[in-house]
Amino acid sequence: MNAPELTEDENLGLYQRATENGPEWWRVSVADRPENYRLEHGVGDGHGAGAVDMDLVVDAENLRAKLKKWRREGFAIDTADAASEDSAAERAAFMPALRRAAALALAEKRRETQGTDSTRDTVRIGHIDVPCGIANPLVPRLNPAYLFSERFNDIVEDIVENRRVMLIGHTGAGKTSLIEQVAARSRHGVLRSNMNGQTTVGDFVGFWTVKGGETLWVDGVLPTAMREGLWLIVDEIDFAEPSILAALTAVLEPHGRLVLKEKGNEIVAPHPAFRLFATANAVGAMSQFRHLYQGANLMNEAFLDRWRVYQLDYLTPAEEADVLMRTLAPHMTRPLATTLAAIAADCRAAFAREDLSSAFSTRRLLDWAELMLRTGDPERAAGPAIYAKISPEDAALIRGIVRHHIAPAA
Ligand SMILES: Nc1ncnc2c1ncn2[C@@H]1O[C@H](COP(=O)(O)OP(=O)(O)O)[C@@H](O)[C@H]1O
Ligand SMILES: [Mg+2]
Repeated sequence: MNAPELTEDENLGLYQRATENGPEWWRVSVADRPENYRLEHGVGDGHGAGAVDMDLVVDAENLRAKLKKWRREGFAIDTADAASEDSAAERAAFMPALRRAAALALAEKRRETQGTDSTRDTVRIGHIDVPCGIANPLVPRLNPAYLFSERFNDIVEDIVENRRVMLIGHTGAGKTSLIEQVAARSRHGVLRSNMNGQTTVGDFVGFWTVKGGETLWVDGVLPTAMREGLWLIVDEIDFAEPSILAALTAVLEPHGRLVLKEKGNEIVAPHPAFRLFATANAVGAMSQFRHLYQGANLMNEAFLDRWRVYQLDYLTPAEEADVLMRTLAPHMTRPLATTLAAIAADCRAAFAREDLSSAFSTRRLLDWAELMLRTGDPERAAGPAIYAKISPEDAALIRGIVRHHIAPAA
């Protein structure tokens, strides 16, 4: 009985196996004679590109036998047909082409910044030169212990390029302080507006009021920041009212203007130094933690697409130990700091496993450490810094982690 006809796309193509001398291959194609197949063999160059050392024509039955034998010998069909070979070439060409393009873009940017007024005052933060503002009372206090991680370079560059930056991450991961510390070093005034509270669209955009018999318009934080060239941080944006988000949307374009509808459609154009930031706990990649941030709204992708969204993780234990030592110098020593950072890391791991229901922030760690230096007693210090803020179950778990790292005094 005849076996079923071979279908071409089932059996034509290149069969390869790896050998010490490089790939060995058989190429199967349709022969000139009907119902016959041409088999070419070679070793060395991949994809059947090398020299052919065997070239034969077989019928379908013979081919079927060969296919069986090849399979036993470890040959497998190479699905790289002509089209996917093209795409393989494209795939390989992409990264070198991108590197060239990125190097050119960087060179051009360097030329541009040299070309413009070199008298312009800048401060270097990480790898980035940040243009300075003029000192004013709204410039945040500089934290000399603040650590700029390598990971922050892209964010700082986005600030210089006037991108809208949203930082997402757990509470106390350092979202607000990152922006404030960039502002502190480059002398830009900062306004913060927290959406997880009573912030109304009136506070945000502005409102009419009567003063001494006169009706006056009072700018909200958004037009104030835009007119005066301040940096505005919209904290916990995932709690904002829809009307506030609507007002923001117009300003999210790089030179987006604000229309004050309530004020006869007055147009507010952004000062060149104006920057807009948002922070959130539970949007986008952080949505999985929404149950921890009750009342947080999901933000739609179209809105998120108007921002560069960076997920900020907690500092690494090594970084956090550095921050502890810098913040609490000179009494915080490296061995103490290393142990405390390890405890924080363990608590965060427990939180990630959902064994612990409260996040362990850098703020909490610093506060605990400070109090510990005052009291000389980790347990006593943990009361007001940690335990009193969380459930008894969580406190018991953290107490266990602490004991695991710190033996009781002899
Ligand atoms: N990179 C850092 N270097 C030094 N301290 C940091 C750093 N990141 C966070 N902190 C500390 O953690 C505290 C909480 O950070 P914060 O910016 O308020 O967090 P978030 O806004 O994410 O809730 C800061 O006040 C600061 O003391
Ligand atoms: Mg914050």
